[in-house]
Amino acid sequence: MSTAVYPGTFDPITYGHIDVAERAAKVFSELIILVMNNRAKAQTMFSVEERVSMIRNVFSNIPNIRISSYHGLLVDYARSTGHNVIIRGLRAVSDFEYEMTMAAANRRMYDPFDTFFLMTDTKYSFISSSLVKEIAVNGGKIDPWVPESVKWEILKKIEN
Ligand code: PNS
Repeated sequence: MSTAVYPGTFDPITYGHIDVAERAAKVFSELIILVMNNRAKAQTMFSVEERVSMIRNVFSNIPNIRISSYHGLLVDYARSTGHNVIIRGLRAVSDFEYEMTMAAANRRMYDPFDTFFLMTDTKYSFISSSLVKEIAVNGGKIDPWVPESVKWEILKKIEN
C-alpha cells in the first residue's frame, strides 16, 4: 500500500489544494492530508480543528483520502509514522525556491524523506488561501476559488 502525505496550513483549503489532493489520490493508494500548525504564519483565520473539519467535509466522497493534523516538524511526523512520501503543489515558478529549500532541509534532517511535486491546473495557478481571505474580507466574491461550504465558513468568520 503506497501512502503519501499532503501537508499544509490550509487556512482555508482552496480549489488549488483540492486539485492537487485529487490528483495525488489517483496515484497513491492512500493520501493523508496533514493540517499543520505553521508557527511562521502567526495568525490563522481558522483553528486546526476547524480546518480539519472543513477539509473532511470537502473530501467526504473520496474514500482513500484521510485527514489528520500535526504540531511540530514534518520530518518528525514522517519518522514516527513511516510515511516518507510528501506531496506539494507547485503553482508557478515563484513557488519553486521556497519548495526546493523546504524539500532540501527536510531531506537533510531525515534522509528517507522524499517530496513529490504536482503542478496545479493553470486555472488555479494564482490562487492562495491568503488571496481568498483578502478578497473575502474586502467584500469580493470568492465562489470561483473555494467550495460553497468553505465560503460560508469564511463569511461566518468575517461577520464575527
Ligand atoms: O500551506 P503552507 O503554509 O505552504 O505549508 C507549509 C508547511 C506547513 C508544509 C511547512 O511550513 C511545514 O512543514 N511546517 C511544519 C514545520 C516544519 O517541518 N518546518 C520545517 C520545514 S523545512
